[in-house]
Amino acid sequence: MDQLRTPDSHQPFSRRQFTTVAGTATAVTALGLAAPEPAAAAPAAPVLPRQAPCPPRSTADWDTCLAVARALLVVDDHDTSLVPAYQKILDSGLPRARSTAAKKILVVGAGPAGLVAAWLLKRAGHHVTVLEANGNRVGGRIKTFRTGGHEHAAQPFTDPRQYAEAGAMRIPGSHPLVIGLIDRLGVQRRPFYLVDVDGEGKPVNHAWLHVNGIRMRRSDYAKSPRRINQSFGVPSKYQDKPSSQILREALDPVRDEFSTVGADGKRVDKPLPERVRGWARVIQRYGDWSMYRFLTEQAGFDERTLDLVGTLENLTSRLPLSFIHSFISQSLISPDTTFWELVGGTATLPDALLRKVEGLVRLDRRATHIEYWSPDRHGSDDVSQVREGGPHVWIDTVSEGRDGKVVREQFTGDLAIVTVPFSGLRQVQISPLMSYGKRRAVTELHYDSATKVLLEFSRRWWEFTESDWKRELEAVRPGLYEDYRRGKAPADGSLLGAHPSVPRGHISPAQRAHYAANRWATRDQPEAAHIVGGGSVSDNSNRFMIQPSHPVPGSKGGVVLASYSWADDASRWDSLDEEARYPHALRGLQQVYGQRVEVFYTGAGRTQSWLRDPYAYGEASVLLPGQHTELLAAIRAPEGPLHFAGDHTSVKPSWIEGAVESGVRAALEAHRA
Ligand code: FAD
Ligand code: ARG
Repeated sequence: MDQLRTPDSHQPFSRRQFTTVAGTATAVTALGLAAPEPAAAAPAAPVLPRQAPCPPRSTADWDTCLAVARALLVVDDHDTSLVPAYQKILDSGLPRARSTAAKKILVVGAGPAGLVAAWLLKRAGHHVTVLEANGNRVGGRIKTFRTGGHEHAAQPFTDPRQYAEAGAMRIPGSHPLVIGLIDRLGVQRRPFYLVDVDGEGKPVNHAWLHVNGIRMRRSDYAKSPRRINQSFGVPSKYQDKPSSQILREALDPVRDEFSTVGADGKRVDKPLPERVRGWARVIQRYGDWSMYRFLTEQAGFDERTLDLVGTLENLTSRLPLSFIHSFISQSLISPDTTFWELVGGTATLPDALLRKVEGLVRLDRRATHIEYWSPDRHGSDDVSQVREGGPHVWIDTVSEGRDGKVVREQFTGDLAIVTVPFSGLRQVQISPLMSYGKRRAVTELHYDSATKVLLEFSRRWWEFTESDWKRELEAVRPGLYEDYRRGKAPADGSLLGAHPSVPRGHISPAQRAHYAANRWATRDQPEAAHIVGGGSVSDNSNRFMIQPSHPVPGSKGGVVLASYSWADDASRWDSLDEEARYPHALRGLQQVYGQRVEVFYTGAGRTQSWLRDPYAYGEASVLLPGQHTELLAAIRAPEGPLHFAGDHTSVKPSWIEGAVESGVRAALEAHRA
């Protein structure tokens, strides 16, 4: 089974997925990357890394690739970083405008992009109104389940102090704009542990890997990967390498284009102009490749190695999607990155932004129709509300009528900043027709799914030692500790929430019945996990399980992210209705940590499918192969008085950094317009 998976053996996912390469012999460097710049010195003699056909260049021209690289690195046309200027703007406001006239500006969407833009424009003296579809909160895909939050009086968990993230949860230290914003707004941050830690915050990597019926500590796997690797059937050359190393070695030649390895073994970015060109080469070479194609054709992975790496490194569900996207997120979501979380939940960031634009946000106002006036766009009969010399933007909104009545309200402005994800903008009527490029981007930009299932426990059992377990289980009933260890405890749901610390009345008979109906007989009991933070990986439907990095003050319990999944992995959860997801997620957690965790289950859970969210329409724009070069320029280009922001207009979709960066850019555009 070591032979390469051929493109023909798969159903195509899209026209971009598995484009074949037969016979296009392009000169490559020793790294398998062409030197594509027209003006570049002659490339080194071709050295093929393996027998695969030589990859062709993408169809995008060099200037387009350079533009994408510049957008990714946030540099201007002279390759000077825009980040310091953006930081200054976030700190002390927009630069003085050429025209001093205050403009009337509508911002559509109160996610981080819209809130940042609105705040900056308000500070610059413009008259800003923010239109937000949600009736009970701002923040968009930043959403914290918390008492007194968007669920108003309702508390999401049995312990009113507990909270957990439906969306954004971790902020990379390497994201300067959002980190600077957090600090400027006085929002408290603390470490988020991607890798579990000991009592002193030192990484120990003791969480579980649970695949092909094998359960192993991550640290043991890092030392002796053979057992798990053999269970995937990887060829002998990979048997003794951990999956992360196999992947790193496959991707390193790409990283060599824009970074070098220092004496301490750490990667250092090349200086800016060189880094831009390095990234542009990567985009030109792989911009229309999927990760699947890269790993098979370029890295030469066989099917089994692809499965190993895909399963453990969270790539499988996104293999058909853009190489560039997965390459960037893979490089970021790594133990080498320092992550932060916000004390009290990520929603404390939109809370702080909202205070800056107090009174300007109109909740429960979903934009359904946007009309704009532009001198070069004539001929649409629809245009009736806007005119030269009059308001250039007119927006019709609807209140969803949660209180029974559907209310329409119209707003006008000199210009607008639209931050609605394009998946949702597709439902908004815009007249006159926007440019062909923009309409195509709105239609085609690929959005992916992500789903979370969160479960509350009355004790943080994942932090327990074996003796903690013994003490706590004996408190339920004498002998229970041994019964679980020997697989003799009843598995019919009767022990759900059996620990005295679990408040009564939250586990309904229906939940017990559902649990009993769907349980798997998972009777082997592993040793106590004894971890703080970090997360486990399984090939069961939960896929990724993440423990909280910090206790909630005053609470002995905690909320576990029992399942965090993307793409196809997430769709499996989306098929279940919300109530059904909890017992299934508990079952998956038990498979990894043992049946006994059930005694602490409070019966309270929260779940969020972002694909099914009526205002997000997906987790984020996770591009298809080729979409960076095909669509990026059109995505962010203004259409007359309409400006566009949101993480999808950056090359950091699915990160708050991309949203903040786009908010600053669009505010600058609007301010200068
Ligand atoms: P959004 O946050 O989506 O805001 C858009 C706003 O527009 C919403 O409030 C929406 O209600 C509103 N809207 C939509 N349609 C209309 C309409 N027709 N009229 C009026 N308003 C409308 N980022 C990180 O940095 N770290 C993470 O750990 C992280 N994890 C994530 C995990 C998940 C599961 C998800 C889904 C996202 C995650 N993100 C993370 C990404 C981050 O949440 C987004 O990048 C960010 O919220 C995007 O901001 P935005 O303003 O562009 O869009
Ligand atoms: N920012 C999100 C997280 O930290 C998602 C990152 C990856 N998302 C993606 N579409 N590749 O989990």
